[in-house]
Amino acid sequence: MPPPPGPAGFFRLDHDLVCDGVPLAAIAAGAGTPVYVYSAALVRERYRAIDDAFGGYPHALHYALKANSTLAIARLLRSLGSAVDANSVWEIETARRAGFDPAQIVFTGVGKSPAELECAVGLGVKAINVESAGELARLEAIATRLGRTVRFAIRINPDIDAKSHPHISTGLKINKFGVPLDDARALLQTVKGRPALSLVAIHVHVGSQITSLDPLRRAAALAADVSLELQRRGFPLEYIDLGGGLGVSYDGAEVPSPADYVTALLGEVRRTSLPIVLEPGRAIAAPAGVLLARVIDMKARDAASEFVILDAGMTELIRPALYNAFHRIEPVSAPATGDRHYELVGPVCESSDVVGRDRMLPPLAPGDVVAIRDAGAYGSVMASNYNRRPLPAEVLVDGGEWRVIRRRQTLDDQLALET
Ligand SMILES: Cc1ncc(COP(=O)(O)O)c(C=O)c1O
Repeated sequence: MPPPPGPAGFFRLDHDLVCDGVPLAAIAAGAGTPVYVYSAALVRERYRAIDDAFGGYPHALHYALKANSTLAIARLLRSLGSAVDANSVWEIETARRAGFDPAQIVFTGVGKSPAELECAVGLGVKAINVESAGELARLEAIATRLGRTVRFAIRINPDIDAKSHPHISTGLKINKFGVPLDDARALLQTVKGRPALSLVAIHVHVGSQITSLDPLRRAAALAADVSLELQRRGFPLEYIDLGGGLGVSYDGAEVPSPADYVTALLGEVRRTSLPIVLEPGRAIAAPAGVLLARVIDMKARDAASEFVILDAGMTELIRPALYNAFHRIEPVSAPATGDRHYELVGPVCESSDVVGRDRMLPPLAPGDVVAIRDAGAYGSVMASNYNRRPLPAEVLVDGGEWRVIRRRQTLDDQLALET
């Protein structure tokens, strides 16, 4: 694809908010709303920023499909040289359909069913990231029955506070994820000489939307220490998997750059000489997407503010309702800010269906289109059919042109599952 005109991503040309040079108003008119719009140029830029930061140090980026697994996005990542982290057998199958080899897939997740484990063992994925002693036992039984040796990593629960939102912090003992360090040591003591099991890596992932390097650095240091210890005990480890978690700036506040992030990790891991696997999701996809919504109605809220009722809400983007997450919201054909005090809400029958609280915007009217920014990760993938609302359409802008990469769901699509 030729490079887009102007910078990559979302910016203003006069009063028009554009994606890689294409006016978002034109996409809303052509594709309808609500619609997710992604910038291919920005996906490339965000991927390469992390990839390039490693310099010559051996590494593999396993893009976390859970952030956004739309086929065209997965294929775009693949074309850049990415591998993937899959969190279910359905994400594994999506990765396969996007063209990824089993050797490019790590399989994570706290509750992998026996059927999912069997599928992953049968395919021969790069590693299954094991979350408990019980899971390791189930995995061994399956691999033995299939006559295979399964490559696995053990996910350590490092008891580190990611200082992110509690719903997306995973590294504390009280969280359901991983195996506490001492238990992992004891468990691994027993795996040598068991022909169905081959330990290839230590895995840590302490949470998502982490905006301070400290927890990421501490988790990397611990993974490096444990890896060295295991190597001394004769385990031929192949790499260290440091998970994902790098945060993005939803509100304009400073966050660590990909270069600072990778430098911090390398500072801890270099002494092992082991290649690094990372599983970034949000840091690649979030800034590369917006959700376009149209104003349906306006009504008074209090003396100073009005409700703006949009045709997108918690069914299309649940993050604000689920974690009180902040997303910038801007009209696509008017300046980004103004002097009107608005509460932007969705159409869903829930009072928690608020998309943006207390925003100062230019005057809005029914029919206007707004862009909900930084919605490329944990947006479309978390959409639901509540109120029988259809899953929104998705559009990819590439080389100055846009195309629908997922059509809007119809009621027939929904009802086709029912008898
Ligand atoms: C095991 C694992 N790896 C990677 C990720 C991706 O995280 P992020 O999108 O914050 O980079 C997650 C998400 O929380 C995860 O659970």
